[in-house]
Amino acid sequence: MPRKKLGFFPTPLQKLENLTRHFGGPKIYIKRDDMTGLAFGGNKTRKLEFLIGEALAQNCDCVITGGAEQSNHCRQTSAAAAMSGLECHLALRGEEPESYSGNLLLDKLFNAKVHWSLQYRKGENIPMIAEEIKSAGRKPYVIPYGGSNKVGAMGYVEAVNEITKQLNEQNLKIDHTVFASSSGGTHAGLIVGKSLYGFHSKLIGVKIDKGEAGEKPYNEHITELSNELASVLELKEFFSVNDVILRDDFIENDYGVVGDLERNAVKLLAEKEGILLDPVYTGRVFGGLIRMIENKEFSNNESILFWHTGGGPAIFSYASDLMKRDK
Ligand SMILES: Cc1ncc(COP(=O)(O)O)c(C=O)c1O
Repeated sequence: MPRKKLGFFPTPLQKLENLTRHFGGPKIYIKRDDMTGLAFGGNKTRKLEFLIGEALAQNCDCVITGGAEQSNHCRQTSAAAAMSGLECHLALRGEEPESYSGNLLLDKLFNAKVHWSLQYRKGENIPMIAEEIKSAGRKPYVIPYGGSNKVGAMGYVEAVNEITKQLNEQNLKIDHTVFASSSGGTHAGLIVGKSLYGFHSKLIGVKIDKGEAGEKPYNEHITELSNELASVLELKEFFSVNDVILRDDFIENDYGVVGDLERNAVKLLAEKEGILLDPVYTGRVFGGLIRMIENKEFSNNESILFWHTGGGPAIFSYASDLMKRDK
């Protein structure tokens, strides 16, 4: 598959010594995909290496994708397009705000063309915009919501190759890997990578949003994507919904609404380890991981890997939510 280098790999794999001591339970490690480098980093760098690679191979002259106003995926796509000499169109939910901050500010700095899309949060109107762009004589490459198709998900198949090498070098074994699962590409890539590269860890995806009415059940979506990837890679294995572990019990608020779970998680990791989470994705996952540790879901001799998928720039547009007092 064509690939365009956009980030810095391997990302660090570290032990969270202070936090491990704080909980006095399982050993906690972190995979720093917040440090992939592209426009403040994040998981989309890995996906975009394959997506932009394909856009360039197809001689497209622009890309189009979509998401929420504070989409990390859109911020990283804008930067990847800028690096690659491609124009970037973004379908963002809502109306143009009075002031620009966080990811949206960065989209603008990367010169993305924003199409304000009212109720559409998941790029539902991308096909329409793509048609308009085509009729203006351009050749757009469509990147789906979250970069989650079989091309983008390949980034996380390769991420497993990377981590298995690091674990071998450091003589480490991970029992449980905990990560954010939202549009499915990261999750499907990890499932397929686990099988391809013999990663012996349970994969626990923490679901970030409830999903929209009428959408396919999320575990089926991940299963289908995993099977599409497996067929591209000519793997013999066939995946079923039983291979998809999803925790949906940490969705205490709607998508993008910050509550105590996220706020306390962001503060704890910052205070104990000097590492920043984002309030929407990794804050929710880390809050869930804290709950799982407190509920003694892991034994003390097990090792847990928290896969940090980035999102830091969004912090600045959630300042007042993060500064609220603990209840
Ligand atoms: C910071 C962050 N983490 C995790 C995810 C979820 O990854 P995926 O969409 O591949 O499920 C996203 C998606 O946008 C994200 O921005």
